[in-house]
Amino acid sequence: MFKRISALLLAGAVTMTMAGCGGDGGSGGSADDGKITMGFSQVGAESGWRTANTKSVQDSAKSAGVDLKFSDAQQKQENQIKAIRSYIQQKVDVIAFSPVVESGWDTVLKEAQSAKIPVILTDRAVDSADTSLYKTFLGSDFVEEGRKAGTWLTEAFKDSKDPVNIVELQGTTGSAPANDRKAGFAEVIGADPKFKVIASQTGDFTRAKGKEVMEAFLKANPDIDVLYAHNDDMGLGAIEAIEGAGKVPGKDIKIITIDAVKDGMQALADGKISYIVECSPLLGPQLMDLAKKAVKGEQIPARVVTEETTFTQEQAKEALPSRQY
Ligand code: AHR
Repeated sequence: MFKRISALLLAGAVTMTMAGCGGDGGSGGSADDGKITMGFSQVGAESGWRTANTKSVQDSAKSAGVDLKFSDAQQKQENQIKAIRSYIQQKVDVIAFSPVVESGWDTVLKEAQSAKIPVILTDRAVDSADTSLYKTFLGSDFVEEGRKAGTWLTEAFKDSKDPVNIVELQGTTGSAPANDRKAGFAEVIGADPKFKVIASQTGDFTRAKGKEVMEAFLKANPDIDVLYAHNDDMGLGAIEAIEGAGKVPGKDIKIITIDAVKDGMQALADGKISYIVECSPLLGPQLMDLAKKAVKGEQIPARVVTEETTFTQEQAKEALPSRQY
């Protein structure tokens, strides 16, 4: 729908701007109403973060005048591949998706490229060697998030002479945030052998799985000092397990999580969580901006990193009243 109108409006300018970048511009669209159509494949609805991210994308599409075709993959790669193929068939102007796992995307991305539909990765990355398969990747630096979590921990336990026993609740196996948050954290704590990860298992980014896996950790390990959870939801599930085992979260076991959604921030303000590394889900406005530019064939940066902060318990109390999600 964008193509024919843009061909008229941009007739002269397009040749110049397209020369600057990937240059395939908008391709398809199913009607001729001048609106950009975006096919968006979301991971699922596994966490508070994801719900906030979906809202941000949907609200921003509305305000930016982008016609959004949205699908929820329920944490399954095969559903995302089906959705992307259907967007290609529908000749949308741009495809955006948050890949549930990093590997296995080359074939479908090549199909989008052959159909001349620009693809934007949002939130999570793919591990494709051919980076021409997508226009840009908008999202957090997950390795840095893991490093921030590790840095707080090493500082908090700097005077301890005893070993520090850590359990880790990983995100979805094979996903970029699980791989990178694990790596960044390990890099920092690895500098001092007193920090020992005694158990590490996936909780799939959900509260229910976080609780279940933490219950198993507690049964198998009587001396847990620290829980590092790759997101707030798993940390919140783990809090239920810790309380159920008669221990006090935040005192008997220090908890570090990532995201800073409202429920996590409340647990931080209440002293149950010790530290949260922020991961912002509010990617919608930047996504719409990048999508419009990609469809017009304008130059866009290959990587757009989200700005983020960290929260202590005191900072959470201050931030909570105005927290958007
Ligand atoms: O990809 C971002 C991660 O996915 C968030 O940290 C987590 O909560 C979500 O499910």
